[in-house]
Amino acid sequence: MTMANIEVRQGDITGLAVDAVVNAANEGLAGGGGVDGAIHRAAGPRLLAACRALPEVRAGVRCPTGECRITPGFDLPARYVIHAVGPVWRGGERGEAELLAGCYRAAVRLAGEYGLRSLAFPAISCGVYGYPLEQAAQVARRALADSLAAATAVDIVYLVAFEGAVLKALEAAFCGD
Ligand code: APR
Repeated sequence: MTMANIEVRQGDITGLAVDAVVNAANEGLAGGGGVDGAIHRAAGPRLLAACRALPEVRAGVRCPTGECRITPGFDLPARYVIHAVGPVWRGGERGEAELLAGCYRAAVRLAGEYGLRSLAFPAISCGVYGYPLEQAAQVARRALADSLAAATAVDIVYLVAFEGAVLKALEAAFCGD
C-alpha cells in the first residue's frame, strides 16, 4: 500500500479539477466568506440548496465542528465538495487541535468511502477562525500522515494556500527536512 502523495501549492482551490475540494465551512453549512464564499460562488446556487437539504443534528447545526459532510460539486471542476467545519481558535486550550485534526481525518475517511483519488484542502480555520498558521499546518501534517496510512484509494492530496504566509507555513510543515 503506497501512501498518497501530498503536495503543497498556491492558488485558488475552486479551479482544481480534483475528485473533491474541501470547504472551510460553518456548522450551519450556510455559506459565508473566505474559501466558503469562493466555493459557493463557483459551484453555483445548487450547492447551497444541497447543504440546506442535509439534516440538522441540532438547531442550526448541520455539521458539528471537527466533522465533515459531502455534497456534489455542481458547477465546480471538482466532482464533490467535502464541507469541513474547523474550530474557532480560542487560545489552544479548548481542544482546537483535536477538532482540527478531526476535520482532516473525516475528509480522508469520506474520500475513502466514496473511492475518491484526489483531494484538495484549504488551510481550514486559518482565516476568520484565527487558527495560528504554523500550528494548524503541523496538525494537518500529523492528521494526514495518520489517516492516509490507512487503506484508502486516495492517490494525491493537495494543500492549497491562497496567501503567501499560508504557503510558507504549509511548506515548512510538509516540505521541511
Ligand atoms: N482558495 C484556497 N484558499 C482560500 C481561498 C480560495 N479561493 N479563499 C480563501 N482561502 C483561504 C484563506 O486565505 C485561509 O487561509 O482559506 C483559509 C481558510 O480561511 P477562511 O475561508 O476564513 O475559513 P476559516 O478560517 O475556516 O473560517 C470559516 O469563515 O467564510 C466563513 O462560512 C465560513 O463561518 C465560516 C468561517
